[in-house]
Parts: sequence; C-alpha cells; structure tokens
Amino acid sequence: MVNDSHKNKFSFIDTEIDRRIENRQLRQLRNVLPLNGIEININGQTMLNFCSNDYLGLAMHPLLQERSIEFIHKYGSGATASRLICGNYDFYEHVENKLAQLKQVEAALVLSSGFQANISVIPALADRNSLILSDQLNHNSLIQGCRLARCKVVVYHHNDLSHLEQLLAENSKKGFSRIFIVTESVFSMDGDMADMQALVALAEKFDSFLVVDDAHATGVFGHQGMGLTCGHDIDLVIGTFGKACGSFGAYLACSEKLRTFMINCCSGLIYTTALPPSVIGAIDAALDLIPEMDAERKSLQANAEYLRSSLHDMGWKTGSSSTQIIPIMVGKEAEALALSSWLEENGILISAIRPPTVPSGASRIRLSLSVLHTRKHIDQVIDVFNKWRTYK
Ligand SMILES: Cc1ncc(COP(=O)(O)O)c(C=O)c1O
Repeated sequence: MVNDSHKNKFSFIDTEIDRRIENRQLRQLRNVLPLNGIEININGQTMLNFCSNDYLGLAMHPLLQERSIEFIHKYGSGATASRLICGNYDFYEHVENKLAQLKQVEAALVLSSGFQANISVIPALADRNSLILSDQLNHNSLIQGCRLARCKVVVYHHNDLSHLEQLLAENSKKGFSRIFIVTESVFSMDGDMADMQALVALAEKFDSFLVVDDAHATGVFGHQGMGLTCGHDIDLVIGTFGKACGSFGAYLACSEKLRTFMINCCSGLIYTTALPPSVIGAIDAALDLIPEMDAERKSLQANAEYLRSSLHDMGWKTGSSSTQIIPIMVGKEAEALALSSWLEENGILISAIRPPTVPSGASRIRLSLSVLHTRKHIDQVIDVFNKWRTYK
C-alpha cells in the first residue's frame, strides 16, 4: 500500500523525463573548465567558445579578480544577511552611485540576479488591476515576473510598435489602475534591438510605465557602454552584471523615489541575503573598465557584421540580428542538434536553441561574440559552416 502510493506520488517525474527523452528535449548539465576568456575544455577537448555572454571578455580579467580578492579580505566571503537587516555594507551604495552616474539616472539599486530582479520587480510594481503589455520575445524571467504580478497581461507582436500603440489606445480608457510596457532592449534569442526613443514616446503619449531589460546591451551599447537605455527617459531599467560585466547580479536604474519604493516593496531585495563582497568587488572593477572600452565595442560590432555577411553569402539566415548575438536559423530541431554536434566535433561550441525556448520550427544555432574573438577565430567558424553543407 505504502509502496503503491509512493509510486503514484513520483510518477509525474518519470512521465516528464520520459517525454523529454522521447522528444530529444532532455536538458543535461555538462562540466566545463574555462581555459581563458574564449577557450573552454569539455571532456578533455579544447573548444572555441561562442556561447558565452561575456561579451567584453571581463570574466577572467585580472582587475576583476584582484578587486574581488581585495573585497573578500576586507569584508569576508558573505554579506551575512539581507541588506535591510545587517548586510548593507558600504560598498553597495558606492557601486550604485557609480552606476547611476554612468547611466545618467538619479539612482541605482543592486539586486541578486537578473532572473530574481525580473520576477520580483514586476510584481512589486503591478497590482491586480494593472495591465502589462509585454513583447512576444521577452526573456523567461520577464514572462514569469508578469505571471507573478497576477494581473492582465497582453503580449504584443515582437518589436511591433503599431501593435503596441493599438493595444495602448484600446486599453487606456478601460479603468486599469496602471499600464506597463515591458520589453528587452537587445533581445536575447534574436539579437535585435527595440527602438528606445519610440517606446519612450509611446509610454508618454499613453501615460504608461516603461520597463526595459537592458541585460544584453549593458557594457556593449550606449554612451560609455552603459546600455541602449542610456540617455533615454525610461521609468525603470533592469540590467545584469552577469553578462558583459563579467560578474554576477543585477541592477535597477531609476528615480530616487522608485529606488525607495523598491527597497520597501521588492521581495527579491527584502527577503534575500545581499550579494557577497567578492561579486561587488568584480562589479566595481568592471564599472571602472567598461567606460574606456569604446574601441573594443566598435571591433565587436564590426566582427559581428563581418560574420553575418559571410553567413548570408553562404545562404544562411540570421533573422533580424544587428548585435553581437547572432541566431543562425535552421528550422527543424533535429537539424539544429546535428549542426551543433558537427560544430563541436570541429572544436566550436555553439548551442542549439530549440522548443520550448523558441517556437516549434524556429530552432536555431545561437552564437554570441566576445571582444576576445579575433578575425581568425571567426574565419574558423565560417569555414566549419561552409563545410557543413558538403558534410550533410
Ligand atoms: C534579457 C534577460 N534578462 C534577464 C536574464 C537573467 O539574468 P541573470 O543571468 O542575471 O539571472 C537573462 C539571461 O540570463 C536575459 O537574457
């Protein structure tokens, strides 16, 4: 009897794992060893890494490592509590002030991770009578944040500002307590950009609240690399330190009043241990380096353009990518997997992205560039893509 009920209790786990195995969708963790900023060892094989979000090659930068160690020596390895209890060490506000100045906003607030920020900030802002208009290709963390807000959410066609305007016009007089527009600035799967100026104008026209996730643009675009949102009047910018900043964590860039509101209402800040000193040390160093990296940013985008046009010449499609994130559209899931394995056999790590992360029939290989990739590395990738057609 006991055994039978146990069997029942866990059967959903077997069902789900079996379903994933059958559909070749079982996700598995692989151990990797970073060798330097762009090479990685997997199962004894050295591979050129084109999957990482370390766009500026800062994750292994000596200054970030040194500052992390310096902070550990001074403050210890953990912050010991939430910032509202006894974890608010002086360095958080130091980094927040530095970031606010760079991003040309009144205030900044450091949070634990981009995921945690998105799932706690949106529910803090919205009440049950709010309406959220969310871009169709928003990252999962934004989707979860919208769900947790427990209000009406309407998805607008990706980057389609006339659709967004139509929804704003239809809904602005319907008695919602407030209307939010939620979008990314650089989209993580397609590598295209949202039009910040047009979004700000729409938000103003309909008195709606604009939230922009600048995760993939921070460090890479905008004045001094401070993101596509930099210099635009955006109500709330969310960004991460785990991508081009080479560390971990997230930030909000906003007004002083909104910062105070979040300190009081954002569960993702209130009910969690503050980020450890080592992480803030690395962020502090990254914020010293990033403004000085205009030449690297220029060469990153020139390399991306070179790779895209070489792929187009060979007949590959890269969707609407115009950034360091380049999806190579394959369509069928099986072909994306086969191509990704072929690339690995040739020493190149580029992951296949397939359902449920992207819609069925939209499977792709998603490549991201770092400033550490040279033209020689990129030519190596082009050569392997070229050979794939004959190999098949
Ligand atoms: C657009 C976007 N927002 C948020 C996140 C989550 O950020 P983090 O990795 O800091 O949790 C990601 C990806 O990881 C992302 O692509």
